[in-house]
Amino acid sequence: MAKGNPMLSAYKWWQKTTVYQIYPRSFADGNNDGVGDIQGIISKLDYLKDMGFETVWFSPLYKGPQADHGYDISDYCAISPEYGDVSDAERLIAEVHARGMKVAFDMVMNHTSVEHPWFQESRSSCDNPKRDWYIWRDGKGSQGSQPPNNWSSFVTDRGWQYDTKTGQWYCASFFEFQPDLNYDNPEVKKAMFDVLRFWLAKGVDGFRLDIFHAIHKDDQFRDNPFRFKFFPTEDDHDGYFQSRIHTVNHPKNFVLAKELRSVLGEFDKDRFAVGEVAGKPEVIKQYLGESHDGLNLIFMFETLRFKFTAAWFRDFLQRLETEFPYPYIPTYVFGNHDQQRFMKKLGNDVAKAKLMALLQFTARGVPVTYYGEEIGMKNANISLNMAGDPLARLYRWIPQKIADKLGLADLVIRERARTPMQWTGGPNGGFCSADVRPWVASNPDVAEVNVATQQKDPASLLNTYKRLLHARNTHVALQEGTIRLLDAGDVPADVLAYVRESGGKKLLIVMNFGNKVRKFRNRTTCTQVVFATDPGLQGQLAGADMRLQPCSGVILKD
Ligand code: BGC
Repeated sequence: MAKGNPMLSAYKWWQKTTVYQIYPRSFADGNNDGVGDIQGIISKLDYLKDMGFETVWFSPLYKGPQADHGYDISDYCAISPEYGDVSDAERLIAEVHARGMKVAFDMVMNHTSVEHPWFQESRSSCDNPKRDWYIWRDGKGSQGSQPPNNWSSFVTDRGWQYDTKTGQWYCASFFEFQPDLNYDNPEVKKAMFDVLRFWLAKGVDGFRLDIFHAIHKDDQFRDNPFRFKFFPTEDDHDGYFQSRIHTVNHPKNFVLAKELRSVLGEFDKDRFAVGEVAGKPEVIKQYLGESHDGLNLIFMFETLRFKFTAAWFRDFLQRLETEFPYPYIPTYVFGNHDQQRFMKKLGNDVAKAKLMALLQFTARGVPVTYYGEEIGMKNANISLNMAGDPLARLYRWIPQKIADKLGLADLVIRERARTPMQWTGGPNGGFCSADVRPWVASNPDVAEVNVATQQKDPASLLNTYKRLLHARNTHVALQEGTIRLLDAGDVPADVLAYVRESGGKKLLIVMNFGNKVRKFRNRTTCTQVVFATDPGLQGQLAGADMRLQPCSGVILKD
């Protein structure tokens, strides 16, 4: 495969891309009102381009009450006024493209806001033509005052909401203000596919699909069985003491994935979809399609619960290669807007963050970076009482100390990971001016953790990301090469090493996860340092006997 010649590459752009997730409310505030917006984002696109990212995923910008900050939509073809309007969105798409990057919009197909006119009509009477656009059922018991079955939602033990006007229950897999659409009704599917077409025609290159695995449910409405697990996690959605066999990963979702792929296929330039789904490898494969004709990519969430050891990652990468060999493409996710900050899991240790970035950008697959990860933004200290997030509000009854102790606080106070991007060491981290209150308070550590300071420091985390992205964008082997893990017996303890290879060109990646110096005997032909977590080593030649400093790593080329 010739370097840099896409005509000769078997890879599609989305199989080798790098993704940066923007949470629009928190990224950049163009009109200085305390809420991020499209103008602000456009003003920062050069920052992303300069770092070297190729694809930008925007959490939802659509019109809606913002009760769940965009994941509650009242008009899929309009933009929420605090972010801008449709012409701003068109400019955003054009500006991203002008920089040679791709755009992924978030798409919330499972549910709308209660304020969506479809739902307003649907709930108005039992015989309204839109009644069947949502999932309505009679309740149990003599007055129908009990939910139709035991289904829980992803956030509470209640997956049904009672509507007094018509005396029936509607299904809501997430918050009560997010009623689930009924995809057994072909009109609903058509309406939603038309929404996709609307944005595809405007040039978006693809979509991130919100809780795609929840869309179809059991049409016999059977109870879910008991399972001893209380809180759902991103990689295992069972919870509230039930196994969601009738509400998650229904086989009709796999068919829907293929239908959606064919909608993407109506447009030129290889559009793509990445799904937020969770399940065992055989389930994930069904979303991707036996002939790779389903969703293009799936977020793999196991990395949200990593152990910072060479053994954990060796096992993980080995399993990926066994379960998802090429043409499957793994993804590497360390954080997102629903998770605690990645730095929290690393004990706020920047050296560890550098090593994780090295892994993320050099393992085979697509890395996904949540805004601020590149500068090591930390979880904010927001209590259950202070939080405005509806998820946190649901759990306010739990005493803070207990919530902290159980690790629940970080799961439900999602604002802890949604604080304004830290651009400078000035007031509000340069997100908005000192006299304006951002929608959620900036992290008080802006003076130490910010873009401006790190841009000047060659050894900073930000410059580590930049150097890594540069290496990835320069070396085809990192984008689309094979991966061969060195056996645990051939490397010292704490060391993870693998070779990426494409078109006869090899790269060796070596990482020391431990806190001791390790000696590594390099038996490959790769000796020239193209990247090192210690920037001083870059460009040097490494001998056959390498000394790896604690918590450090290198990429060597032949
Ligand atoms: C999104 C959340 C959102 C939920 C409901 C998720 O998985 O990532 O932020 O609250 O779906 O749309």
